Amino acid sequence: MREKIVAGNWKMNKSFLEAEEVLSEMTDLLAEREEQDTKVIVCPPFVFLELAIDLSYEGQFEVGAQNVSEFENGAYTGEVSAEMIRSMDISYCIVGHSERRKHFHETDEMIKNKVDRLISNNISPIFCCGEQLTEREASRHLNVVKSQLKKSLFHLPPEEFRNVIIAYEPVWAIGTGVNATPEQAQEMHAYIRELVEKQYRKEIAENCTILYGGSCNASNAHALFSNPDVDGGLIGGASLKAKEFSAIVSALG
Ligand code: PGA
Repeated sequence: MREKIVAGNWKMNKSFLEAEEVLSEMTDLLAEREEQDTKVIVCPPFVFLELAIDLSYEGQFEVGAQNVSEFENGAYTGEVSAEMIRSMDISYCIVGHSERRKHFHETDEMIKNKVDRLISNNISPIFCCGEQLTEREASRHLNVVKSQLKKSLFHLPPEEFRNVIIAYEPVWAIGTGVNATPEQAQEMHAYIRELVEKQYRKEIAENCTILYGGSCNASNAHALFSNPDVDGGLIGGASLKAKEFSAIVSALG
């Protein structure tokens, strides 16, 4: 059975004290869950990773990073390497997010390098892909996502690919309050799974966790997660509030 996952992408939000407060509240709320089979991953900014690790000791959530350097180590002021992240015992890292593609001009090639750094340090990439609104309007959404997967992910050999989590995040849905409909999400997730099967094999595709991201909140999570190929969510804005985030986790079961 593939893993069910809800991951929170905090982006560049919160102070140290706010982070401490929300993580403590989350721990309490998540502990009250009836079903505990959904994995919860919180991805705060780098500077709060140690705090998050300290507060994750009760086992209610795991911790992930939001970014990694494409370089191994050395004279890259301001960068954080996969090896450093691994040395904090962190096992997840978001990569290929559309905000990094847009604001930091990350190319498919750079994202591929980041994926390789993560994999060689035993960190599971949470690999984001998704189309722009104009691309969907031109019915190019499937091809755009296919190209992103082929250029930055499908070079991995099968045994390495097993460690990847895919997040489908249509760019027009991120932070806009307009989520993909459950039908749009299911169509894309089934398509991604089909591509994984073609590239690798059926068993690997069936075990691949594919998350939906983009204006997912406590009100629409259940409808989105009810689709057979939607295995959870990558949550931005709604992951900043403990109550809302734990409601989303409960919507997955
Ligand atoms: P959002 O962001 O939930 O605020 O739309 C999702 C994401 O960017 O991962």
